[in-house]
Amino acid sequence: MKATKSIDWAALRRDFPILDQQVHGKPLVYFDNAATSQKPRAVIDALVRYYERDNANVHRGIHELSNRATNAFEAARTRAAQFINAASSDEIIFTRGTTEGINLVAASWGAQNLKAGDVILLTEMEHHSNLVPWQLLAQRTGAKLAYVPVTGDEGLLDLSRLDALLTSDVKLFSMVHISNSLGTVNPVAELCARARKRGITTLVDGAQSAGHMPVDVAAIGCDFFAFSGHKICGPTGIGVLYGRSELLNAMPPYQGGGEMILSVGYHKTEFKHAPHRFEAGTPDISGPIGLHAALDYLDAIGRENIWKHDQELANYAYEKLAALKDIRLFGPKKDRAGLVSFLLKDVHAHDVVTLADQAGVALRGGHHCTQPLMHKLGVESTARASFYFYNSAAEVDRFAEVIREIQKFFAS
Ligand SMILES: Cc1ncc(COP(=O)(O)O)c(C=O)c1O
Repeated sequence: MKATKSIDWAALRRDFPILDQQVHGKPLVYFDNAATSQKPRAVIDALVRYYERDNANVHRGIHELSNRATNAFEAARTRAAQFINAASSDEIIFTRGTTEGINLVAASWGAQNLKAGDVILLTEMEHHSNLVPWQLLAQRTGAKLAYVPVTGDEGLLDLSRLDALLTSDVKLFSMVHISNSLGTVNPVAELCARARKRGITTLVDGAQSAGHMPVDVAAIGCDFFAFSGHKICGPTGIGVLYGRSELLNAMPPYQGGGEMILSVGYHKTEFKHAPHRFEAGTPDISGPIGLHAALDYLDAIGRENIWKHDQELANYAYEKLAALKDIRLFGPKKDRAGLVSFLLKDVHAHDVVTLADQAGVALRGGHHCTQPLMHKLGVESTARASFYFYNSAAEVDRFAEVIREIQKFFAS
C-alpha cells in the first residue's frame, strides 16, 4: 500500500489515547469506525476545558461564563458552516446526530409539504434512519415511498431507472452519500441536479461522508445535509443538519419550548428565525465545542488526505480478502469508501466478529441498520471492517491473517 505523501499517520494515531491498549491480551485493531470513531486528545481536552472553566447555559445569562459558553457554542456553528461550505451559520442546526436531523426534516418540512399521493424517493441502500422517518411520515400523510434500485452485490445504484422514477409526484429525494453497508459512494451532486431540475427537494445523508472526504453542500446542490459528530472524532450526542435558509425559515418548529421563541402569550407564540427556531430547550453545549475541536483537527490533516488514505486502506483490505477462497464481498470493486463488507461461506457474521474480537480486532457484524438491503442481497447480515486515518496497512495485514485463521478454524 502507498502511504499518502508527507503525513505522519503513525504520529496522528498517537493522538488517540484509546488506541494504545490490548484487548483479550492482543493489541487493539479498531475497525468499527463506521459505527463510531475514536476521539483525539484535542477533542477530549476541549471538553474538559469547557467543563472546568466555561460551563454555563447559553443565550440566557449576561454573566461572563454564560457569554463564554454562548460565544463558544456559536463559534462552533460558524465553524460547522465553513466545514461544509454552507452560505451562512444560520443554515446550521445542531441536532443529536444524523438520525435526529432527518427526523426533523420529516416532521417539519414533511408535514408542511407532503400530502396523500405524493412520493418520497429513497434508494434501496438507505440506513434505517433515512427510511423509518419517511415511512412514519408516509403513514401520517398518505404519501408513498419509491426506491432507486441497487444493482446487486457490487452495490451500485441503477441510475438507468432514475428518470422514470423522478415523476411529477415526487416531492423529496433523500439519499445516502456513502453506504455504511457497501462502501458505495453515490454521485450525489448529479442526483441532486437531476432532482432539482424537476423542482424536487433533496436531502443527503452524510453520516459516512462528512469528515471522511471533502464535502461542499453548495457544490452538491442539496437542500438538506445531515451528519453526526461522533463518526468524525467529535463527541456523541451532537450532529448537524444543514438546510438552505429559504427552506428553513418557511418550516414550522420541530419541538416547542424555551430558546426557540421571540414572544409567548397564553394562546400564541412567535418563533425565532432558523436555526434557533429548531433548537428548543437547553442544547448540548459541550457537544458543539467538542465538534469544533474535531473539525479543526480533521482540517489540519486535510480531508483530501484522509479520503485518499482511507480509500487506499479499503482497496488494500479488499484485495487481501478477495484473494481468499469461499468469501463473498459486497460493494463496488473500484472507488469504494473506507470500508469492506463480507461473508465467509458457512460462517455467521456474528461468529466472525466474536472470534476476531478474541484476537483484538474490533469489527461489526449484523444488518448494519440496512435490513431491507440485506433482504435484497439475500443475506441476514455481513461482517464489516471500517477504517479511519489512524488505521494502518499493518493492521489490515493482521485483520486478514485473523480472517484466514477463522476460516481454518471453521474448516477443521
Ligand atoms: C449511512 C448512515 N446514516 C445514518 C446513520 C445514523 O447516524 P446516527 O446514529 O449518528 O444518528 C448512520 C450510522 O451508522 C449511517 O451509517
